[in-house]
Amino acid sequence: MPTIQIDGKEYEVEQGRTVLQAIDDLGLLMNGVEIPHYCWHPKLSIDGSCRLCQVEIEGVSKLQIACNTLVRDGMEIRTTTEAVRDAREGVMELLLVNHPLDCPICDQAGECKLQDYAFEYGAKHARTREPRRPAKKAIELGPTIVFDQERCILCRRCVRFCREVPRTGELGVFSRGEESRLEVFPGMKLDNPYSMNVADICPVGALTTKDFRFKVRVWFLDDVPSVCNGCSKGCNVWGSRSNNRLYRYLPRRNDAVNQTWICDTGRLSYKQFSEGRLSLPRIRGRETGYTEALAAAVRILSEAREAGAAVVGVASPFAANEDLFALRGLLSDLAAPDAVYTVPRGDSDDLLIQAEKAPNAAGARELGMRESAEGPGKAAVAIVLGHGFGPEAFEEVDALILIDTHESPLLQAAEVAVPSRSFAEKLGTFTNSARRVQRFQPMLEPRFEAWSEGEIVWRIGAGLGLDRFRSAYDPAAISRQIAEEFPAFAGISLESLDDAGRELG
Ligand code: SF4
Ligand code: SF4
Ligand code: FES
Repeated sequence: MPTIQIDGKEYEVEQGRTVLQAIDDLGLLMNGVEIPHYCWHPKLSIDGSCRLCQVEIEGVSKLQIACNTLVRDGMEIRTTTEAVRDAREGVMELLLVNHPLDCPICDQAGECKLQDYAFEYGAKHARTREPRRPAKKAIELGPTIVFDQERCILCRRCVRFCREVPRTGELGVFSRGEESRLEVFPGMKLDNPYSMNVADICPVGALTTKDFRFKVRVWFLDDVPSVCNGCSKGCNVWGSRSNNRLYRYLPRRNDAVNQTWICDTGRLSYKQFSEGRLSLPRIRGRETGYTEALAAAVRILSEAREAGAAVVGVASPFAANEDLFALRGLLSDLAAPDAVYTVPRGDSDDLLIQAEKAPNAAGARELGMRESAEGPGKAAVAIVLGHGFGPEAFEEVDALILIDTHESPLLQAAEVAVPSRSFAEKLGTFTNSARRVQRFQPMLEPRFEAWSEGEIVWRIGAGLGLDRFRSAYDPAAISRQIAEEFPAFAGISLESLDDAGRELG
């Protein structure tokens, strides 16, 4: 392992890394060691074109670009000298020659690298009098992305992304010198399942998503770490919220799961929390209060218990591990068989998108639940989480107790329906397709009375007088119980997990 010095401090780094990569590996990039950069991105090939990342290296007469200079043992790197600062100011002056003074009306303002570095290294006044290079505005590159040519600094991150990640190659830089332009190849559209990532990696406001542009100023948003529930990959995301409303998902870097990317379908799935929600409890279709609905569920189950009638359970691969464990406990106390569940399936690829379109099918499997195509079969009572199965699966069930986040045709068949919190409104864990347990936390407050599936099950169990439900519902305590009962979860709990998650043993 070579030892290098950065601004006088010694670090051991990996052989074969560039200076910028090594500093990123150490977790110091823009986090103690400030090396501004545009064209370099940790998950893309090196371009070396913007020249902003220049640093001084002892014994080398000219400044070197940190993104394309390999580390070597004994290397002494300086990032804060006058020569380095002069170089950064020179690069910024060149970049700003043609850039419009657009910040007040640009969607990127507040999270723009050009704005940030211009503030830090830009000249107070332009030295040119010539008009800025004319270029086009608001060009639709495809169904998801709008391009503002004036703002583009030709870093080619978007070009490399399309070539290297989805490998669709829709974008290129055409012409030379002053005439250079980013464009879509003739006859093509920027249209691939990961297209919106280009807006995240564009360091300026040249690429914006149709979905987010002009919705809200970014300084009104705060970002909560979470996990996408669109498929079993469990990509890590930031949910950007303001006034109890989610405005977007952004990818959150997790090299063990999704690198720094998410798919477009997952990105837009933040909308699910406001649309089509089941907001009021119902008894036989009539809207009622939460207390009445829970009392009705308890009554139905205790009558079945007294009569020795069959009770069955249906789990949901959209519910958290803690919800599923609570259901498992209730079914076991009622001498019911293991819960069944069904998983919606769709397209997959070799990048991120998984065929299982639910976040916790692996969790249901690990907790001993059984996947079934038919449903739970004949019974007096079914306790059902979610609407994976349609009403036809319950034709041989006398009374259906439904706990769900959204309205569905199953509502018509339910004796009792209780609204539950979506995962965006609660704390819990999902297990992804690679058996990695990941934590999520509330991004939103529910707009109506609703508890998590686990808490509803818990309160029904308490209403039935069952011992294990005597204490107050506590997902953290449940996660510890899971770890005790299932060896694969040993050492994993809501408190011990960090934002990167942990693989099952
Ligand atoms: S559109 Fe953005 S990411 Fe693409 S080359 Fe221009 S500045 Fe770079
Ligand atoms: S690949 Fe799956 S988990 Fe990842 S963003 Fe897309 S839908 Fe969400
Ligand atoms: S980041 Fe190094 S040259 Fe652009």
